[in-house]
Amino acid sequence: MEQLSFLEGVPKNGRASLERSSFSHQSVAAENERIALEKRYTLLLDETARFNRKLVSFQASKNEILHGWLKYREGFSPQLVDTLLDEFEIGAGDRVLEPFAGSATTLLVAMMRGIDATGIELLPHCHLAWEAKSQIARYSVDELKQIARQAATKVLPRAQAEFPHLTITEGAFSETTEQDLLDFTQWFEEANISEDARILSRLVLTSILESVSYTRKDGQYLRWDGRSSKLQQRNHRRSTQGKKEVGGIDKGILPTVRDAFSAALKDVIRDIEILQKQSFPVSNQILMEGSTLYVLSTLAADQFACVITSPPYANRYDYTRTYALELAYLGVKERIFDLRQSLLSCTVENRSKLEELRAHYEKIKGSSRFNAITQVINQNGALREINLALQLRQERGEINNRGVLTMIENYFTELTFVFAEIFRVCRPGAYVAFVNDNVRYAGEIIPVDLLCTNLAEQLGFEPVKVYVLPQRKGNSSQQMGKFGRAALRKSITIWRKP
Ligand SMILES: C[S@@+](CC[C@H](N)C(=O)[O-])C[C@H]1O[C@@H](n2cnc3c(N)ncnc32)[C@H](O)[C@@H]1O
Repeated sequence: MEQLSFLEGVPKNGRASLERSSFSHQSVAAENERIALEKRYTLLLDETARFNRKLVSFQASKNEILHGWLKYREGFSPQLVDTLLDEFEIGAGDRVLEPFAGSATTLLVAMMRGIDATGIELLPHCHLAWEAKSQIARYSVDELKQIARQAATKVLPRAQAEFPHLTITEGAFSETTEQDLLDFTQWFEEANISEDARILSRLVLTSILESVSYTRKDGQYLRWDGRSSKLQQRNHRRSTQGKKEVGGIDKGILPTVRDAFSAALKDVIRDIEILQKQSFPVSNQILMEGSTLYVLSTLAADQFACVITSPPYANRYDYTRTYALELAYLGVKERIFDLRQSLLSCTVENRSKLEELRAHYEKIKGSSRFNAITQVINQNGALREINLALQLRQERGEINNRGVLTMIENYFTELTFVFAEIFRVCRPGAYVAFVNDNVRYAGEIIPVDLLCTNLAEQLGFEPVKVYVLPQRKGNSSQQMGKFGRAALRKSITIWRKP
């Protein structure tokens, strides 16, 4: 693989094309601070084809051995992690941190390379994926093949349980499919098989939920097939009110649970057989449960050799909605609301966590740390300018949801806490890589990459590089219509703890 050269590299395409000189459509709001950020960091901007969209998205992992077991669209690729680990010269004896672990790409790559790693993640299906993937060496392939044979042919007794739906998942399956899901679950949960095989079966079933359902994940929401009872009931209500019916998607012929489960298990067994022929150096990885906002601050200082991560983007996507089927199946029930609020604020529903954080820092005797971090947030000129610009746009009636304002304010507030704690837990010389997207609301561009770099610098990091992907991010048709086109950067920011 071609080596990166962030310590020297001069961008091939020249910096001018990367640097932005206008941030507020028709200069409605002040933009000096954002322009100043661009000027300050322009020499760090480096557009490189070595990082493309495929590499920073799940696209490359879809069929990737092991990584493809649970389709996690928000994940980045193992190749990206490999490239960065090489570049940061991380090896055995080092420990890597992934504070937004997701499907655990960073942890798995570390495991394969014999590097220690710590991840933090909130959502239960990600933990299940890690549990199943991290124990590849332990599976008995004979046992799994036996389970696969039974899954393909066994007549299963009818389960009496009910699918633990959330309100937002009701009607996601046909009656037959829902019963089959319950029958399969009862079978492997009660079967006389090893605990490892049971966990793997649970993951395999979780991984097929979308494919056998009337839903499709689509950014912020689940989209619904016209055959789902949810859409049919909604349309019935609409027609009685004289309203036009809403059209749904058409997913075509859906696989049966038996076929989908068998196919997914077959792929998983194939991967296990391949991986069990390889030997991985002994190392230790751990995925911690809970919110990074609280967990990080309890970890010992100066321990990590690097951080490779990608937080949720400030794009209103709600993981608890996108993964509602998986979370429902794993029994989160009422906990869904807590999970939604605990995620790093990236939806219009998230409330401020500042008072909770204050209480947390008091409890861990870190009030002075809390004060120092909030001071950095309050004194950041670009952040203040962005918050004021959005307020102005709202007053002009250009933002119809006030939640966008709180989301942006909370997003950067919370990320600053994460950056500060990362700084503390990294050892001197450690490199930190954050993958993120710039965003735009109501004609106001938010240079997430440079604002984060600026906040990180104020917390003590040395900014090293901002890799910019050759492909820019498009705008929603709504934004395009009202505020014109503005290609937004997708970036990987690199910082170093001196
Ligand atoms: C962009 S995804 C990371 C994907 C990951 N790099 C991968 O390859 O799968 C962001 C992750 O952060 C998690 N997350 C969001 N807020 C969190 C929080 N407060 N604490 C821990 N994890 C959080 C989300 O559940 C999601 O899995």
